[in-house]
Amino acid sequence: MNQTTNQQTPMTAERAAAVQRSGFMRALRGEAVTPAPVWVMRQAGRYLPEYRETRARAGSFLDLCFTPELAAEVTLQPIRRFGFDAAILFSDILVIPWALGQPVDFVEGVGPVLEPITTEAAFERLEFDGFLDRLAPVFQAIGRITAALPPHVPLIGFAGAPWTLATYMIAGRGTPDQGPAKALAASNSALFQRMIALLERCCAALLARQIAAGADAVKLFDSWAGSAPAPERMVVEPLARIAEALRSDHPETPLIVFPRQFGARLPQLSRIVAPNALALDQDVDIDWLRSEISDEIALQGALDPTLLLGEREPLQAALDEQRQEFRGAAHIFNLGHGVTPEAKIENVEFMLDYWRNAS
Ligand code: CP3
Repeated sequence: MNQTTNQQTPMTAERAAAVQRSGFMRALRGEAVTPAPVWVMRQAGRYLPEYRETRARAGSFLDLCFTPELAAEVTLQPIRRFGFDAAILFSDILVIPWALGQPVDFVEGVGPVLEPITTEAAFERLEFDGFLDRLAPVFQAIGRITAALPPHVPLIGFAGAPWTLATYMIAGRGTPDQGPAKALAASNSALFQRMIALLERCCAALLARQIAAGADAVKLFDSWAGSAPAPERMVVEPLARIAEALRSDHPETPLIVFPRQFGARLPQLSRIVAPNALALDQDVDIDWLRSEISDEIALQGALDPTLLLGEREPLQAALDEQRQEFRGAAHIFNLGHGVTPEAKIENVEFMLDYWRNAS
């Protein structure tokens, strides 16, 4: 497929204006919106029966990601059911290695399985040429989603950040401690840095194309940020270079970064990367963080997702606590990590209702 098949989706002036007035976009511009807008990571996923039904119809997980009609359908499901204040594109962070030509599979009960890259020869086989063309179905899905979303619901595009992507590309799977990536960074730092540089280029290109296709905001997931052995070089600097590229091409599109488990390093990261919003995991001390960073940076988070598995009382208490901690802040309510397959739908309903309607 050539570049012209990924044309920019015409966005109606009406939708553009409604999106900019939404609580989600206002919070991203640094405004304290009450009640804070709500969406949750992995809001389209296995805890929803309608997701499981569409997922079964698609066959494989990658077929679901790369069939625009089905990817759009599952993106819209949680918006229809719960009325979240933002939608997130249904895709995966591992479409980047896939589109570079690295074989990727999602194995039932195991998770992602990739052909590991640990040598120069394997790295040389990756191909940036045609990278965006191979992701054409993702941009087509965005066109369908923005045409179908209620006009006031913004769409978030996303990419995995270089360090987190490298941990999967090098190990060939998810690992408890990202050992294989750390080992390669130590034994062949030149190869490791070339991989990070290639991934920076992919992230910037993918997010820019998602924006051209209609994404209203974009997010970088650095889920394993906390384990990077050289946090500046592996997390902060790559995120800063991607943020800079996006700001120069798309200065109006807000960027959210999620450096999970980055704790004490968050203030430095927010100064150097200067994102519009910092997405937080459930272990961040919110009072401390608010005293350390500019209040122009919106904060997204950070309810412990395991609270959606249990009883209502601890969930309600945690919501009260979040309301206290984020009072007066430009806040977007979310979980500290993705909603899990075991989450109870009635807890998600209660969370939304209580967050929006209880004072
Ligand atoms: O609703 C959304 O949030 C949008 C879609 C989305 C998915 N993955 C769908 C998905 C997003 C934003 C992601 C990001 C992602 N993918 C991350 C970063 C966020 C995080 O969770 O830390 C990571 C590390 C991945 C890689 C990945 N994809 C793993 C490790 C797995 C297997 C784990 C699991 O839950 O099975 C996936 C598969 C995946 N991606 C699923 C979904 C809904 C479940 C697969 C299925 O339906 O069979």
